[in-house]
Amino acid sequence: MIEEHYQFDDNLEPRLVDPEVRDEPEEERIEISLRPKQLGQFVGQAHIKEPLTISIQAAKQREEPLEHVLLYGNPGLGKTTLANIIAHEMGVHIKVTAGPALERVGDLAAILTNLSRGDVLFIDEIHRMNKTIEEVLYSAMEDYALDIIVGKGPAARTLRMPLEKFTLIGATTKMNLLSSPLRDRFGHVYHLNFYEQSDIEEIIHRNASLLDIPVEAEAAEMIAMRARRTPRVANRLLKRVRDYAQVKHNGIITPEVTHHSLNMLNVDPHGLDEVDRKILLAIMEKFAGGPVGLSTLAAAVAEEMDTIETIYEPYLLQIGMIERTSRGRKVTDLAYQHLGKPTQVTQKELL
Ligand SMILES: Nc1ncnc2c1ncn2[C@@H]1O[C@H](COP(=O)(O)OP(=O)(O)O)[C@@H](O)[C@H]1O
Ligand SMILES: [Mg+2]
Repeated sequence: MIEEHYQFDDNLEPRLVDPEVRDEPEEERIEISLRPKQLGQFVGQAHIKEPLTISIQAAKQREEPLEHVLLYGNPGLGKTTLANIIAHEMGVHIKVTAGPALERVGDLAAILTNLSRGDVLFIDEIHRMNKTIEEVLYSAMEDYALDIIVGKGPAARTLRMPLEKFTLIGATTKMNLLSSPLRDRFGHVYHLNFYEQSDIEEIIHRNASLLDIPVEAEAAEMIAMRARRTPRVANRLLKRVRDYAQVKHNGIITPEVTHHSLNMLNVDPHGLDEVDRKILLAIMEKFAGGPVGLSTLAAAVAEEMDTIETIYEPYLLQIGMIERTSRGRKVTDLAYQHLGKPTQVTQKELL
């Protein structure tokens, strides 16, 4: 049961660690400028880079378009970046759209008929495409043809229009929402993992030097530790710490500056923010450590189920603060330690 008197802090910082939050236009521009252009500059994800390098080279040797590519992984891990890199490496144009933006079959048809041979069509959030569009995409992907129904009722007939051979790159955060006929039409399926600490540090150093920000090694390490193993979060923290260093210091990012600025922003040493802590505390204090179902938990912390599932939970699972069981989510001993709370076991011993 949800307790009515539970108080939530409504004045949280903007979602600093939420990789799904879109940046301001100026920041968006910086982010685009930081995007690596070549596969060699794309840090980490060796399990993707190696096969991809070979496939790109093979396709170029055969002078054929690359087979369709599906990229899936959490927000901010580099799907859009990778799609742009693939187009760049293949030496072709990229047309960018998103599942929800394709409302009518005509929208998709207009894009497809304007592609030149080998071009990349990037569909972000491909799991959010409507069924009719998806079905048109099947023949486009498989036969490079557009099947369009003209007329209505008994007079309706299908017109088949040939298309240039193109490469579809789809990106999704939710593989389970993709229908299997769609999934099966991709020649390459790559899962982007959370990054290693050393990869995030490398990204911070690279971007700091691109932005001309002096950052000490230990400070980069501290930022990396709080970046939720996600490049977008690392970039954002770097920019916030830079602001602080500029205003409160001589512009140099030292460990001390990093410590103060990130504390001020309420990002703890594991990169957890207020919402993460709220989730952990709710499981501990209101559900005796769990297990608790997702919808109950979402109601208890006043967050969308989807937000918890795509933003908060994957990282909390990754760092071992929560566990998923068949009956719901449980907090681990590590979470109790991290928040300085006695664990369930010690609580029982105390009784
Ligand atoms: N492997 C990587 N190496 C360097 N920078 C990266 C890498 N992956 C992502 N980034 C950076 O993180 C930001 C977010 O990546 P993006 O491709 O937009 O993620 P997604 O599309 O998966 O949400 C980009 O601006 C880019 O600078
Ligand atoms: Mg993206």
